[in-house]
Amino acid sequence: MSNSFKTFLKHTAKDFHNQSVNPPIVRASTIIFKSMQDIRKTQNKAKKNPTGGHFDYGRQGTSTTHILQQILSKLEESYFTFLTPTGFGAVFLAIFSVTRPGDEIIVADPVYSPTRLLSQDFLKEFNIKTTFYDPHDLKTLEKSITKKTKLIFVENPGSNTFDFQDLGKILSIAKKHKILTAIDNTWGTPYFLKPIKLGFDMAIVSATKYYSGHSDVMGGSLAVNKKVFAKVKAAERVTGLRLGPDDAYLITRGLRTLDVRLDRHRENAKKVAEFLSKFKNIKLLYPYKKDSYNFRMWKKYYSGASGLMGLRVKAKSEKSVVKFVNNLKLFGHGYSWGGFESLGLHQNVREQGNRKYLKLEKNEHIVRLHIGLEDPSDLIADIKQALKHLK
Ligand SMILES: Cc1ncc(COP(=O)(O)O)c(C=O)c1O
Repeated sequence: MSNSFKTFLKHTAKDFHNQSVNPPIVRASTIIFKSMQDIRKTQNKAKKNPTGGHFDYGRQGTSTTHILQQILSKLEESYFTFLTPTGFGAVFLAIFSVTRPGDEIIVADPVYSPTRLLSQDFLKEFNIKTTFYDPHDLKTLEKSITKKTKLIFVENPGSNTFDFQDLGKILSIAKKHKILTAIDNTWGTPYFLKPIKLGFDMAIVSATKYYSGHSDVMGGSLAVNKKVFAKVKAAERVTGLRLGPDDAYLITRGLRTLDVRLDRHRENAKKVAEFLSKFKNIKLLYPYKKDSYNFRMWKKYYSGASGLMGLRVKAKSEKSVVKFVNNLKLFGHGYSWGGFESLGLHQNVREQGNRKYLKLEKNEHIVRLHIGLEDPSDLIADIKQALKHLK
Protein backbone atom coordinates (compact mmCIF):
# COMPACT_ATOMS: atom_id res chain seq x y z
CA MET A 1 0.00 0.00 0.00
CA SER A 2 1.62 3.22 -1.12
CA ASN A 3 -0.08 5.58 1.35
CA SER A 4 -1.75 4.99 4.67
CA PHE A 5 -4.84 2.81 5.01
CA LYS A 6 -7.02 5.93 5.22
CA THR A 7 -5.67 7.47 2.02
CA PHE A 8 -5.68 4.19 0.14
CA LEU A 9 -9.40 3.66 0.84
CA LYS A 10 -10.22 7.00 -0.82
CA HIS A 11 -7.96 6.52 -3.86
CA THR A 12 -8.50 2.91 -4.90
CA ALA A 13 -9.81 4.07 -8.28
CA LYS A 14 -6.32 5.18 -9.25
CA ASP A 15 -4.93 1.73 -8.51
CA PHE A 16 -7.54 -0.49 -10.13
CA HIS A 17 -9.48 1.38 -12.81
CA ASN A 18 -9.14 4.76 -14.42
CA GLN A 19 -12.50 6.17 -15.45
CA SER A 20 -15.19 7.01 -12.90
CA VAL A 21 -14.29 7.52 -9.23
CA ASN A 22 -16.24 4.37 -8.45
CA PRO A 23 -15.89 1.17 -10.46
CA PRO A 24 -18.57 0.29 -12.99
CA ILE A 25 -20.90 -2.56 -12.05
CA VAL A 26 -20.21 -5.30 -14.55
CA ARG A 27 -23.00 -7.88 -14.42
CA ALA A 28 -22.51 -11.07 -16.37
CA SER A 29 -23.39 -14.69 -16.72
CA THR A 30 -22.20 -15.13 -20.30
CA ILE A 31 -18.97 -13.43 -21.31
CA ILE A 32 -18.66 -13.16 -25.10
CA PHE A 33 -15.29 -13.80 -26.78
CA LYS A 34 -14.35 -13.12 -30.40
CA SER A 35 -13.36 -16.71 -31.06
CA MET A 36 -12.69 -20.09 -29.47
CA GLN A 37 -8.99 -19.17 -29.50
CA ASP A 38 -9.78 -16.14 -27.38
CA ILE A 39 -11.66 -18.28 -24.87
CA ARG A 40 -8.72 -20.68 -24.61
CA LYS A 41 -6.30 -17.76 -24.25
CA THR A 42 -8.26 -16.44 -21.26
CA GLN A 43 -8.48 -19.90 -19.72
CA ASN A 44 -4.71 -20.35 -20.07
CA LYS A 45 -4.09 -16.95 -18.51
CA ALA A 46 -6.37 -17.94 -15.59
CA LYS A 47 -4.41 -21.16 -15.14
CA LYS A 48 -1.05 -19.38 -15.17
CA ASN A 49 -2.22 -16.49 -13.01
CA PRO A 50 -5.19 -17.62 -10.89
CA THR A 51 -5.36 -14.35 -8.92
CA GLY A 52 -5.23 -12.16 -12.02
CA GLY A 53 -8.94 -11.67 -12.75
CA HIS A 54 -9.20 -13.70 -15.97
CA PHE A 55 -12.79 -14.89 -16.26
CA ASP A 56 -14.66 -16.93 -18.87
CA TYR A 57 -17.98 -17.15 -17.00
CA GLY A 58 -19.89 -14.88 -14.62
CA ARG A 59 -19.76 -17.30 -11.69
CA GLN A 60 -15.99 -16.78 -11.55
CA GLY A 61 -16.49 -13.04 -11.09
CA THR A 62 -16.30 -9.85 -13.13
CA SER A 63 -14.10 -6.78 -12.96
CA THR A 64 -16.37 -5.43 -10.15
CA THR A 65 -15.71 -8.34 -7.81
CA HIS A 66 -12.05 -8.45 -8.83
CA ILE A 67 -11.56 -4.80 -7.84
CA LEU A 68 -12.99 -5.52 -4.39
CA GLN A 69 -10.72 -8.56 -4.06
CA GLN A 70 -7.68 -6.43 -4.88
CA ILE A 71 -8.68 -3.71 -2.40
CA LEU A 72 -9.27 -6.23 0.38
CA SER A 73 -6.02 -8.10 -0.33
CA LYS A 74 -4.16 -4.79 0.12
CA LEU A 75 -5.98 -4.06 3.38
CA GLU A 76 -5.46 -7.58 4.69
CA GLU A 77 -1.88 -7.77 3.38
CA SER A 78 -2.91 -11.21 2.15
CA TYR A 79 -1.91 -13.27 -0.88
CA PHE A 80 -5.52 -13.23 -2.07
CA THR A 81 -9.05 -12.60 -0.77
CA PHE A 82 -12.04 -14.71 -1.73
CA LEU A 83 -15.53 -13.22 -1.68
CA THR A 84 -18.62 -15.11 -0.54
CA PRO A 85 -22.36 -14.28 -0.56
CA THR A 86 -22.44 -13.99 3.27
CA GLY A 87 -19.95 -13.85 6.12
CA PHE A 88 -21.05 -17.30 7.20
CA GLY A 89 -20.28 -18.53 3.68
CA ALA A 90 -16.66 -17.45 4.30
CA VAL A 91 -16.62 -19.42 7.58
CA PHE A 92 -17.88 -22.50 5.73
CA LEU A 93 -15.42 -22.05 2.86
CA ALA A 94 -12.48 -21.79 5.26
CA ILE A 95 -13.36 -25.01 7.08
CA PHE A 96 -14.48 -26.93 3.98
CA SER A 97 -11.27 -26.05 2.11
CA VAL A 98 -8.88 -27.71 4.55
CA THR A 99 -10.76 -30.55 6.26
CA ARG A 100 -11.73 -34.03 5.07
CA PRO A 101 -13.48 -37.04 6.70
CA GLY A 102 -11.36 -38.43 9.53
CA ASP A 103 -9.84 -35.03 10.36
CA GLU A 104 -10.25 -33.10 13.59
CA ILE A 105 -10.59 -29.39 14.21
CA ILE A 106 -10.29 -27.29 17.38
CA VAL A 107 -12.62 -24.33 17.72
CA ALA A 108 -12.85 -21.45 20.21
CA ASP A 109 -15.72 -22.07 22.63
CA PRO A 110 -17.33 -18.64 22.14
CA VAL A 111 -17.58 -18.74 18.33
CA TYR A 112 -20.58 -17.28 16.52
CA SER A 113 -23.35 -19.82 17.19
CA PRO A 114 -23.91 -20.91 13.54
CA THR A 115 -20.14 -21.61 13.35
CA ARG A 116 -20.49 -23.72 16.46
CA LEU A 117 -23.50 -25.61 15.10
CA LEU A 118 -21.71 -26.20 11.79
CA SER A 119 -18.71 -27.71 13.53
CA GLN A 120 -20.29 -29.62 16.41
CA ASP A 121 -23.29 -31.06 14.50
CA PHE A 122 -22.95 -30.88 10.73
CA LEU A 123 -19.25 -31.76 10.42
CA LYS A 124 -19.79 -34.72 12.75
CA GLU A 125 -22.03 -36.24 10.08
CA PHE A 126 -19.04 -36.08 7.73
CA ASN A 127 -16.78 -37.76 10.29
CA ILE A 128 -14.94 -34.55 11.18
CA LYS A 129 -14.54 -34.22 14.92
CA THR A 130 -14.61 -30.86 16.70
CA THR A 131 -13.31 -30.04 20.15
CA PHE A 132 -13.80 -26.64 21.73
CA TYR A 133 -11.15 -24.79 23.71
CA ASP A 134 -11.47 -22.31 26.55
CA PRO A 135 -10.36 -18.87 25.24
CA HIS A 136 -8.96 -18.06 28.69
CA ASP A 137 -7.04 -21.32 29.10
CA LEU A 138 -5.04 -22.32 26.05
CA LYS A 139 -3.94 -25.53 27.76
CA THR A 140 -7.40 -26.81 26.78
CA LEU A 141 -6.40 -26.11 23.18
CA GLU A 142 -3.01 -27.77 23.31
CA LYS A 143 -4.28 -30.88 25.05
CA SER A 144 -6.95 -31.40 22.34
CA ILE A 145 -4.34 -31.66 19.58
CA THR A 146 -3.96 -35.08 17.98
CA LYS A 147 -2.24 -36.31 14.82
CA LYS A 148 -5.56 -35.81 13.03
CA THR A 149 -5.91 -32.11 13.93
CA LYS A 150 -6.00 -30.04 10.73
CA LEU A 151 -7.31 -26.67 11.80
CA ILE A 152 -7.54 -24.32 14.76
CA PHE A 153 -10.49 -21.97 14.30
CA VAL A 154 -10.38 -18.77 16.36
CA GLU A 155 -12.91 -16.01 16.64
CA ASN A 156 -11.54 -12.90 18.28
CA PRO A 157 -13.08 -11.56 20.36
CA GLY A 158 -15.54 -14.37 21.03
CA SER A 159 -19.19 -13.74 20.18
CA ASN A 160 -21.36 -12.28 22.96
CA THR A 161 -18.79 -12.62 25.76
CA PHE A 162 -16.04 -10.75 23.86
CA ASP A 163 -13.14 -12.85 25.11
CA PHE A 164 -9.82 -11.53 23.77
CA GLN A 165 -7.31 -14.31 23.30
CA ASP A 166 -3.55 -14.57 23.18
CA LEU A 167 -3.33 -14.81 19.39
CA GLY A 168 0.47 -15.07 19.34
CA LYS A 169 0.39 -18.02 21.69
CA ILE A 170 -2.30 -19.78 19.61
CA LEU A 171 -0.17 -19.27 16.50
CA SER A 172 2.95 -20.64 18.15
CA ILE A 173 1.05 -23.76 19.32
CA ALA A 174 -0.29 -24.23 15.77
CA LYS A 175 3.16 -23.78 14.26
CA LYS A 176 4.73 -26.25 16.66
CA HIS A 177 2.19 -28.92 15.67
CA LYS A 178 2.00 -27.88 11.96
CA ILE A 179 -1.71 -27.12 12.13
CA LEU A 180 -3.49 -24.58 9.90
CA THR A 181 -5.20 -21.58 11.49
CA ALA A 182 -8.27 -19.49 10.68
CA ILE A 183 -9.67 -16.48 12.49
CA ASP A 184 -13.01 -14.70 12.30
CA ASN A 185 -11.90 -11.06 12.40
CA THR A 186 -15.29 -9.44 11.81
CA TRP A 187 -15.16 -7.39 15.04
CA GLY A 188 -11.80 -5.74 14.37
CA THR A 189 -11.54 -5.86 10.56
CA PRO A 190 -8.03 -5.40 9.10
CA TYR A 191 -8.27 -1.74 10.11
CA PHE A 192 -7.54 -2.80 13.69
CA LEU A 193 -5.98 -6.26 13.27
CA LYS A 194 -4.14 -7.88 10.36
CA PRO A 195 -4.29 -11.62 11.02
CA ILE A 196 -2.46 -12.80 7.88
CA LYS A 197 0.48 -10.54 8.76
CA LEU A 198 0.38 -11.93 12.29
CA GLY A 199 0.67 -15.48 10.94
CA PHE A 200 -2.85 -16.84 10.44
CA ASP A 201 -3.43 -18.84 7.24
CA MET A 202 -7.02 -17.61 6.76
CA ALA A 203 -8.91 -14.53 7.98
CA ILE A 204 -12.67 -14.13 7.72
CA VAL A 205 -14.64 -10.90 7.78
CA SER A 206 -18.42 -10.67 7.46
CA ALA A 207 -18.63 -7.83 4.94
CA THR A 208 -22.27 -7.51 5.97
CA LYS A 209 -21.00 -5.61 9.02
CA TYR A 210 -18.46 -2.77 8.98
CA TYR A 211 -17.24 -3.17 5.39
CA SER A 212 -20.65 -2.33 3.95
CA GLY A 213 -21.58 -0.26 7.00
CA HIS A 214 -25.12 0.56 5.92
CA SER A 215 -27.17 -2.53 6.86
CA ASP A 216 -28.33 -3.11 3.30
CA VAL A 217 -26.06 -5.80 1.87
CA MET A 218 -24.66 -9.20 2.78
CA GLY A 219 -21.24 -10.57 1.92
CA GLY A 220 -18.13 -12.22 3.28
CA SER A 221 -14.40 -12.21 2.67
CA LEU A 222 -11.81 -14.87 3.25
CA ALA A 223 -8.24 -13.59 3.07
CA VAL A 224 -5.57 -16.27 2.67
CA ASN A 225 -1.83 -16.71 2.53
CA LYS A 226 -0.04 -18.47 -0.32
CA LYS A 227 0.11 -21.76 1.57
CA VAL A 228 -3.66 -22.39 1.52
CA PHE A 229 -4.56 -20.45 -1.63
CA ALA A 230 -4.83 -23.48 -3.97
CA LYS A 231 -6.95 -25.46 -1.50
CA VAL A 232 -9.41 -22.58 -1.02
CA LYS A 233 -9.51 -21.87 -4.75
CA ALA A 234 -10.42 -25.51 -5.44
CA ALA A 235 -13.14 -25.47 -2.76
CA GLU A 236 -14.49 -22.17 -4.02
CA ARG A 237 -14.82 -23.66 -7.50
CA VAL A 238 -16.84 -26.70 -6.39
CA THR A 239 -19.09 -24.86 -3.94
CA GLY A 240 -19.91 -21.90 -6.19
CA LEU A 241 -19.62 -19.64 -3.12
CA ARG A 242 -19.10 -16.29 -4.83
CA LEU A 243 -20.36 -12.75 -4.37
CA GLY A 244 -22.46 -11.01 -7.02
CA PRO A 245 -21.27 -7.73 -8.63
CA ASP A 246 -24.04 -5.52 -7.21
CA ASP A 247 -23.22 -6.55 -3.65
CA ALA A 248 -19.49 -6.19 -4.40
CA TYR A 249 -20.12 -2.65 -5.60
CA LEU A 250 -21.99 -1.70 -2.40
CA ILE A 251 -19.27 -3.20 -0.23
CA THR A 252 -16.58 -1.34 -2.20
CA ARG A 253 -18.55 1.87 -1.68
CA GLY A 254 -18.92 1.20 2.04
CA LEU A 255 -15.17 0.58 2.38
CA ARG A 256 -14.37 4.18 1.41
CA THR A 257 -15.44 5.32 4.87
CA LEU A 258 -14.47 2.25 6.90
CA ASP A 259 -11.78 4.11 8.85
CA VAL A 260 -13.95 7.19 9.49
CA ARG A 261 -16.86 5.12 10.71
CA LEU A 262 -14.77 2.76 12.83
CA ASP A 263 -12.95 5.65 14.51
CA ARG A 264 -16.32 7.21 15.40
CA HIS A 265 -17.82 3.86 16.53
CA ARG A 266 -14.82 3.51 18.83
CA GLU A 267 -15.15 7.05 20.22
CA ASN A 268 -18.86 6.58 20.89
CA ALA A 269 -18.42 3.10 22.35
CA LYS A 270 -15.72 4.41 24.71
CA LYS A 271 -18.08 7.08 26.03
CA VAL A 272 -20.91 4.59 26.50
CA ALA A 273 -18.49 2.16 28.21
CA GLU A 274 -17.34 4.92 30.56
CA PHE A 275 -20.97 5.58 31.52
CA LEU A 276 -21.83 1.89 31.96
CA SER A 277 -18.71 1.17 34.01
CA LYS A 278 -20.30 3.02 36.96
CA PHE A 279 -23.02 0.40 37.46
CA LYS A 280 -22.28 -2.36 39.96
CA ASN A 281 -24.77 -4.77 38.35
CA ILE A 282 -23.14 -4.47 34.93
CA LYS A 283 -19.84 -6.03 33.86
CA LEU A 284 -18.60 -4.50 30.65
CA LEU A 285 -17.50 -6.97 27.99
CA TYR A 286 -15.43 -4.48 26.05
CA PRO A 287 -11.72 -3.61 26.13
CA TYR A 288 -12.09 -0.80 28.62
CA LYS A 289 -10.87 -1.73 32.09
CA LYS A 290 -7.09 -1.42 31.94
CA ASP A 291 -6.22 -4.02 34.58
CA SER A 292 -8.16 -6.87 32.95
CA TYR A 293 -6.76 -9.82 30.96
CA ASN A 294 -9.15 -8.92 28.12
CA PHE A 295 -7.77 -5.38 27.93
CA ARG A 296 -4.17 -6.61 27.92
CA MET A 297 -4.86 -9.11 25.12
CA TRP A 298 -6.70 -6.47 23.10
CA LYS A 299 -3.90 -3.93 23.58
CA LYS A 300 -1.26 -6.47 22.63
CA TYR A 301 -2.72 -7.18 19.18
CA TYR A 302 -5.22 -4.47 18.14
CA SER A 303 -4.71 -0.87 17.09
CA GLY A 304 -8.31 0.07 17.93
CA ALA A 305 -11.75 -1.21 18.86
CA SER A 306 -15.10 -1.28 17.09
CA GLY A 307 -18.58 -0.47 18.35
CA LEU A 308 -19.87 -3.88 19.44
CA MET A 309 -19.91 -4.66 23.15
CA GLY A 310 -21.50 -7.02 25.61
CA LEU A 311 -22.91 -6.34 29.05
CA ARG A 312 -22.96 -9.07 31.66
CA VAL A 313 -25.96 -7.94 33.63
CA LYS A 314 -27.01 -9.10 37.08
CA ALA A 315 -30.79 -8.95 37.42
CA LYS A 316 -33.63 -10.45 39.40
CA SER A 317 -35.15 -11.98 36.31
CA GLU A 318 -34.69 -12.36 32.58
CA LYS A 319 -37.96 -10.45 32.22
CA SER A 320 -36.43 -7.29 33.67
CA VAL A 321 -33.40 -7.58 31.32
CA VAL A 322 -35.76 -7.91 28.35
CA LYS A 323 -37.70 -4.89 29.65
CA PHE A 324 -34.47 -2.87 29.78
CA VAL A 325 -33.67 -3.82 26.17
CA ASN A 326 -37.23 -3.17 24.97
CA ASN A 327 -37.12 0.30 26.51
CA LEU A 328 -34.07 1.38 24.55
CA LYS A 329 -35.61 3.80 22.09
CA LEU A 330 -32.58 4.71 19.94
CA PHE A 331 -31.35 1.12 19.69
CA GLY A 332 -33.07 -1.07 17.11
CA HIS A 333 -33.90 -4.62 18.12
CA GLY A 334 -32.60 -6.84 15.35
CA TYR A 335 -29.75 -9.08 14.26
CA SER A 336 -26.45 -8.19 12.69
CA TRP A 337 -24.35 -5.13 13.52
CA GLY A 338 -21.69 -2.93 11.94
CA GLY A 339 -24.13 -0.54 10.29
CA PHE A 340 -24.25 3.16 11.16
CA GLU A 341 -27.08 2.66 13.63
CA SER A 342 -27.23 1.45 17.23
CA LEU A 343 -28.74 -1.94 18.06
CA GLY A 344 -29.55 -3.74 21.30
CA LEU A 345 -30.38 -7.39 21.98
CA HIS A 346 -30.84 -9.71 24.90
CA GLN A 347 -28.68 -12.69 23.91
CA ASN A 348 -29.89 -15.99 25.20
CA VAL A 349 -26.42 -17.54 25.20
CA ARG A 350 -27.56 -20.46 27.32
CA GLU A 351 -29.58 -21.62 24.32
CA GLN A 352 -26.97 -20.84 21.67
CA GLY A 353 -25.11 -24.07 21.08
CA ASN A 354 -24.28 -25.32 24.58
CA ARG A 355 -21.08 -23.43 25.30
CA LYS A 356 -18.79 -25.65 27.28
CA TYR A 357 -16.74 -23.12 29.20
CA LEU A 358 -19.23 -20.31 29.82
CA LYS A 359 -19.91 -19.86 33.50
CA LEU A 360 -23.01 -17.73 33.92
CA GLU A 361 -24.74 -17.47 37.28
CA LYS A 362 -28.50 -17.94 37.27
CA ASN A 363 -29.02 -14.20 37.79
CA GLU A 364 -26.55 -13.20 35.03
CA HIS A 365 -27.63 -12.29 31.52
CA ILE A 366 -25.91 -11.07 28.37
CA VAL A 367 -27.01 -7.95 26.53
CA ARG A 368 -25.32 -7.01 23.28
CA LEU A 369 -25.11 -3.38 22.22
CA HIS A 370 -23.91 -2.11 18.90
CA ILE A 371 -22.90 1.50 19.41
CA GLY A 372 -23.68 3.38 16.22
CA LEU A 373 -22.75 6.78 14.87
CA GLU A 374 -25.47 8.79 16.61
CA ASP A 375 -24.58 11.55 19.10
CA PRO A 376 -23.17 9.57 22.06
CA SER A 377 -24.88 11.84 24.58
CA ASP A 378 -28.25 10.85 23.09
CA LEU A 379 -27.29 7.17 23.32
CA ILE A 380 -26.19 7.55 26.94
CA ALA A 381 -29.42 9.38 27.86
CA ASP A 382 -31.41 6.60 26.20
CA ILE A 383 -29.54 3.85 28.07
CA LYS A 384 -29.97 5.79 31.32
CA GLN A 385 -33.76 5.93 31.01
CA ALA A 386 -34.00 2.27 29.94
CA LEU A 387 -31.83 1.14 32.89
CA LYS A 388 -34.64 2.20 35.25
CA HIS A 389 -36.37 -1.01 34.14
CA LEU A 390 -33.46 -3.22 35.15
CA LYS A 391 -34.24 -4.60 38.57
C1 LIG B 1 -18.56 -12.79 14.31
C2 LIG B 1 -19.45 -13.11 13.15
N1 LIG B 1 -18.96 -13.86 12.16
C3 LIG B 1 -19.71 -14.18 11.09
C4 LIG B 1 -21.01 -13.74 10.99
C5 LIG B 1 -21.82 -14.15 9.80
O1 LIG B 1 -21.93 -13.11 8.89
P1 LIG B 1 -23.17 -12.98 7.88
O2 LIG B 1 -24.33 -12.55 8.70
O3 LIG B 1 -22.70 -12.00 6.88
O4 LIG B 1 -23.39 -14.34 7.29
C6 LIG B 1 -21.56 -12.95 11.99
C7 LIG B 1 -22.96 -12.45 11.89
O5 LIG B 1 -23.53 -11.93 12.81
C8 LIG B 1 -20.76 -12.63 13.12
O6 LIG B 1 -21.23 -11.89 14.14
